[in-house]
Amino acid sequence: MCGIIGYTGKRDVAPLLVQGLRRLEYRGYDSAGIAVAGGRRFEVRKEVGRVADLERTVEANLPGSTGIAHTRWATHGGVTKENAHPHLDNEGRIVVVHNGIIENMAPLKARLIAEGAIFRSETDSEILAHLIAHFYHGYGSFGDSIVPDIAGDPVEAVRLALSRVRGTWGIAVMFLDHPGMIIAARNGSPLVIGLGDGETFIASDPHALVPYTRRVMFMADGELAQLDASGVQTWRLDGGAHTPSIETLEEEWGDGEQGDFPHFMLKEIHEQPEALRQCLSGRVLVEEGAAKLGGLDLSPRELVDISRVTLLGCGTSYHACLVGAMAIEQLARIPATAEIASEFRHRNPVIDPHGLHFAVSQSGETADTLGAVKEIQRKGGRVMGAVNVVGSSIARSCGRGVYLHSGPEMAVASTKAYSNMVAALYLFTLQLARTTHLSAHAGREFAEHLQAIPSLVEQYLADPGPIDEAVRWVCESKVTFFLGRGLSASVAAEGALKLMEVSYIPSIAYPSGEMKHGPIALLEKGSPVICIAPDDALKAKTASNLQECRARGARIILVHTAGDPIAELGDVSIPVPATLEWFTPLLTVLPLQLLAYKAGLALGRDIDRPRNLAKSVTVE
Ligand code: M6R
Repeated sequence: MCGIIGYTGKRDVAPLLVQGLRRLEYRGYDSAGIAVAGGRRFEVRKEVGRVADLERTVEANLPGSTGIAHTRWATHGGVTKENAHPHLDNEGRIVVVHNGIIENMAPLKARLIAEGAIFRSETDSEILAHLIAHFYHGYGSFGDSIVPDIAGDPVEAVRLALSRVRGTWGIAVMFLDHPGMIIAARNGSPLVIGLGDGETFIASDPHALVPYTRRVMFMADGELAQLDASGVQTWRLDGGAHTPSIETLEEEWGDGEQGDFPHFMLKEIHEQPEALRQCLSGRVLVEEGAAKLGGLDLSPRELVDISRVTLLGCGTSYHACLVGAMAIEQLARIPATAEIASEFRHRNPVIDPHGLHFAVSQSGETADTLGAVKEIQRKGGRVMGAVNVVGSSIARSCGRGVYLHSGPEMAVASTKAYSNMVAALYLFTLQLARTTHLSAHAGREFAEHLQAIPSLVEQYLADPGPIDEAVRWVCESKVTFFLGRGLSASVAAEGALKLMEVSYIPSIAYPSGEMKHGPIALLEKGSPVICIAPDDALKAKTASNLQECRARGARIILVHTAGDPIAELGDVSIPVPATLEWFTPLLTVLPLQLLAYKAGLALGRDIDRPRNLAKSVTVE
C-alpha cells in the first residue's frame, strides 16, 4: 500500500526519491509524487500510474537536497493527479505525505474550509497540510481548546495538529521556512529512520533504505521526529523526549531484484527450496525428534501448560494458519484454530490467558492482523509473531516469535512466504507435540521428512508436469473450482486465491465433501475442477467427489502423489513427490502457484502487481 521515502543531506534528492519509490513499488499503488525543497517554493511533481511515469516528469536538473515522496493506494478519492501526494497548504509553504486514514475527516475539513482552507484534492491526507499550517501560523485554538502560541515552531505545529486527528498516520512534513528539515510522525503506519554519514532518511519500509544505509531507528506509535542532515531528535507526541535504539538491518539472504526471471512471482516460486532451507536451518533436531524455536523463548514446562493455540492471519497467511491449526490439534492434541484476523479482532473474542496466539504475516504490517494482536494483548492474552519482515510492526508488537526467513517477497501474490509460514508452524507443532503426545520415534519420522521437503520441492520444480494444458482450460472458463479435504482443503483455498489474484478468473474453493451441498449447481460441461488429492487418509473420499463432478461434465485437473493410481481419474494429472501426509501442502501448492502464474501470463495480466491489490495491506 502507500509508501513514503524522504531524505535530507547533500545528495541530489530528486533521483534518490525516485529510486526510493521504485523500491516501494512492490507494495502496490496507483499514483506517485515527490516534493523537493529547492529554493523559494516546493517543487512538486505527481503522476497517475507507475513511478516510471512520474520519473518522466521529473526534470534531470530539479535542484534540491531535501525532499519527500509517496506512492498512493487510493482510499479517499479516486485515482487522480490531484489526489496523489504530496499535498500543500494554501500558501504552498508546508507539504505533507501521509500513509493511513483520518477518521474524523468530515468535521476537521468543515472547520478548515470555514477558516479559508482551499482543498485541491478529495483526500483525507490534505487535511494535515492545512491543519499543520493552522497551528504553524499561530491561528490559535481549533475547536474548544486553547492552544499555546507556538507560531513558527514546526515540531509543535505537527504535534498540535496530530492531537486533533483520529485515525492512523505515518507522515513526513517539510516547511519552506526550515529547509533541510523533515518532521515525521507515526501512529499505526510504519516509519523507519535511516542514519547515514551527514544524511538522514525516512521511509515506510526499510527496503527503500537498504541501498544507502543499514543503520536504522524504527519509530513507534505515538512518536514524532525531527530530521536534518546531522541526525534526528525524537519525542513522544504526548510530551517528553524519547530515543529509539539504533538497529542494524540484517542481511537477508536473496535480494529484492528480479534477476533473470521475467517476474518476481516466478523467481519467488523457484526460491522456495532455498527459502525453506533457511527457515528450517538449525531449528530441526532430527536425533531428538524435536524442534527448537529460540525466538519463542518457551520452556517445556511453559509449552505443556498451553491450553489452546489460535493462529491469526489474512489471505494467504490465513490459509497457512489453517494447515498449522490442523497439524497442532492432531499431533499435540491441544485445541487449535485458525482465525481470519479481521473477523477475530472485531467480535469481542474470549481470550484464554493460558492459550497461545500466533499472528502470522509476511509483511508484519497487515492492519487487521496488527489490530488482532492489540486486541489479544488488551485482554491479557499471549501473542507471538510468525513474521517474515524483520523489525516490522507485528514483530515488534509481539516481542517474541519466529521469523520466517523467506527473504524479501516482492510479488503481491505470496508464494515462498506461504511455504515458510507452513514450515514454521510445523516446527512449532513438533516442538509442542513432543512435550505432549508425540513419541520420540514419531517425532524423528516427522523431523526427517520435514528436513527433506526442500529437496522434494526442488525435484518438483525441475519437472512440474502438464501445467500448460490445465492453463488452457482454466483460461477458457467462466469459473474455476478447487477441491480438497483436510489439509488439502486449505491448499485448495490457497490455489483459488492465487489464481484469482493473478489471473482475475473467478475461483471457488470448497472442502470437496461440501461441493454437493450447493456449489455443484455451477458445474457445466467442461468446467475445470482442480482437485487436490495426495496420498492421504481422505483420498478415497475425495475421489468419490471427483467422480460426482466428472459425471456432470467437469474437466478434472488432478494434483496427486507420484505413482498413485488415482492419477487415472484426472483429465490432466499433475504428480508431486511423495512425502509424509502432513507435508503434502508444501508440495501440492506448487502446481497451483505455477497454474496461477501461467494463467496470468496467458491472459496478459500484471503478474507482480495485480490490479487493486497491495503487498502490504495497512488499512482495515
Ligand atoms: O503480509 P501478510 O502476510 O499479513 O498479508 C496478508 C494478505 O494480505 C496476503 O497474504 C494476501 O492475501 C496476498 N496477496 C496473497 O497472495
